[in-house]
Amino acid sequence: MIHDLDKRKEWWSANSDIVWLDDESTPTQYLDSHIHLFKDKRVLEIGPGRGRQKDKVCDITKSYTVADISEKFLKEESFQDVSRHLMTGYEPFGDFDLIHFWFVLHHVLHRELEDFFEFLYNSLMKDGLILFNFPSGEFSDHQIADDGIKTSLHKRELIDTVTMNFFRIVDEFKGVDFPEVHHTTYLMQKREAKWEDQG
Ligand SMILES: C[S@@+](CC[C@H](N)C(=O)[O-])C[C@H]1O[C@@H](n2cnc3c(N)ncnc32)[C@H](O)[C@@H]1O
Repeated sequence: MIHDLDKRKEWWSANSDIVWLDDESTPTQYLDSHIHLFKDKRVLEIGPGRGRQKDKVCDITKSYTVADISEKFLKEESFQDVSRHLMTGYEPFGDFDLIHFWFVLHHVLHRELEDFFEFLYNSLMKDGLILFNFPSGEFSDHQIADDGIKTSLHKRELIDTVTMNFFRIVDEFKGVDFPEVHHTTYLMQKREAKWEDQG
C-alpha cells in the first residue's frame, strides 16, 4: 500500500517541472559506464520522471516498461514507445530481469520500504538485478523538504537491513549529487531464497 497515494499523485502532477532533464549526477555517470547491464534485458524503470535515464539505456534492452504513481509523467513524450504502468500500490505486474529507479527511494516512506523491496523481489526473474540511488550520507533518518508528502532521507544502514532479506550487494558507489547531499548507488542481485528462509 502507498500511503496518501492521492495526495502524492496530486503533488507530482503539480510539481512535475522540478524533475530536470539532464545533468552530470550519479545516474548519468553510473549508467554511462554500465550500459552493458541493460543489454537484451527486460527492464522496468520506476519513477522515470521525464525520461532522462530511459533515453540512455532503452535502445539496447529487450523490452522497456516504465511505472509511476503519476499519470502526468507517463504521458511524457519519451514514453510513448514503451509499456507504461500506473502504480496504485506495490503489487507485481510483470517479470523483469532488471529494475532501476533513480531519485525515487526517498519518496517511499520508511514504513513502506519492506513492501517496496518485496515488490521488487517478486517482480524479478531468477538472478534479477536492481539498480538505484538515494540521498544518504551523514544524515539521520528524518523528513526533508516541506512538501507535505513526507519526503524522507534513509540511512544507508536502514537500506542495507531492509534489502538484505531480498538481495545481495553486487556494487556500491558513493557520490555527491547536490551541494552537501551524498548519494549512494547500489547494484543488487536477487537472492535465490529470502535470507530469512535460508536457514
Ligand atoms: C525526483 S523524481 C525522479 C525522476 C527521474 N528518475 C530522474 O532522475 O529524473 C521522482 C519520481 O518518482 C515518482 N514517485 C514518487 N513517489 C513514488 C512511489 N512511491 N512509487 C513510485 N514512483 C514514485 C515520481 O512521480 C517521479 O516520477
